[in-house]
Amino acid sequence: MSALYETAVRPLLFRLEPERAHELALRTSALAGRAAPVRGLARMAFAGGVRGLGVELGGLSFANPLGLAAGFDKNGRALRLLAELGFGHLEMGSVSAYPSNGNPRPRLFRLPEDDAIVVSYGVPNDGAEVVARRLAQLRLPVPLGVNLVKTNDPARPAVEPDVYEDYARSFELLQRQADYVALNMSCPNSPGDRDFFDELSRVERLLARLAEAGPRVPVILKLKPTTDAGVLREIVAIADGFPFVAGFAINLPAGKPGVLRLTASAERLERMPGAVGGRPVESFVNEVLRLLYGITGEGGRYGLIAAGGVFTADDAYRKIRLGASLVQLYTGLVYRGPGLVKEILAGLGALLERDGARRVADVVGADAG
Ligand SMILES: Cc1cc2nc3c(=O)[nH]c(=O)nc-3n(C[C@H](O)[C@H](O)[C@H](O)COP(=O)(O)O)c2cc1C
Repeated sequence: MSALYETAVRPLLFRLEPERAHELALRTSALAGRAAPVRGLARMAFAGGVRGLGVELGGLSFANPLGLAAGFDKNGRALRLLAELGFGHLEMGSVSAYPSNGNPRPRLFRLPEDDAIVVSYGVPNDGAEVVARRLAQLRLPVPLGVNLVKTNDPARPAVEPDVYEDYARSFELLQRQADYVALNMSCPNSPGDRDFFDELSRVERLLARLAEAGPRVPVILKLKPTTDAGVLREIVAIADGFPFVAGFAINLPAGKPGVLRLTASAERLERMPGAVGGRPVESFVNEVLRLLYGITGEGGRYGLIAAGGVFTADDAYRKIRLGASLVQLYTGLVYRGPGLVKEILAGLGALLERDGARRVADVVGADAG
């Protein structure tokens, strides 16, 4: 299936400017997803077949650990079709309290030689009210995570308490439509906002504000990636005071830090502002994941969600063994197509069997020590 995508579909999509190609793919999926027979066909082609991959996180049950990462469907337009591709969950967003146009274009770039995407969207989205109305009409066959972010708008600078009110407004509007809510606490492409939570007492104030909103769904904190174990420990200690926090996810680092394994020339990268998703971030994200699991530990109340450079079952399995209960993908889907989901799930089943594990949970964190 991936071979068909790579030889027939991808060359056509890659002829278009990256953001236009993505919009076309989303619009086509949104349209196709309206028809029940098309959804049925997608289900037959892409989903099913692998059993015994169930996982739990935050009291929710997932049929398998593989999910769609935030950013792919920012406004929840194509979820009905995306839900038929075999994913165990979908995460949509990031959505902010108020609509935003994001950063100026061009703001999406391909780096095929690195299996990577460079992104500087700056979280454009329709805003929480419009998205809440859209989601209210949906019944999905898989759990839905709604990812929230502060509105990226120079007229709404990142100051206290406005930032907390921004998240709280989207939270109040959207938690009813979500199985879990993820808080994007450091969008790498919103320069005015991304460092706001570096002052960790603000994490506590945000969670206190959300506690007032009466959380009814588990909340995941999507953190700025850091290998500073002290910072991670402090964030986990803050979360300990808020029982609705069910786990953590790891965002992309901003820009092109030296820890990324990029082969593209500096000159080429200079023309591509933004953060890097895909293969080059894998080892860095995995190191953050290993550290986080070392802190949140086995059998605790937290689960970890990890994305970053997953292209194969081995990549997904590595993340699970480093501590992830759920693994997500975005860039892999762009380069390998929708058939990748089924391929990864089949491979995961085989890897569990090879290692004599009966359940995914048996190997979560097995290599974190
Ligand atoms: C084009 C693009 C847009 C993204 N938008 C968001 C977003 O709005 N919110 C968010 O939390 N993460 C966003 N992400 C990060 C992804 O959710 C994911 O964490 C990251 O891309 C690593 O996975 P990958 O290597 O499979 O792409 C985005 C990533 C890409 C490539």
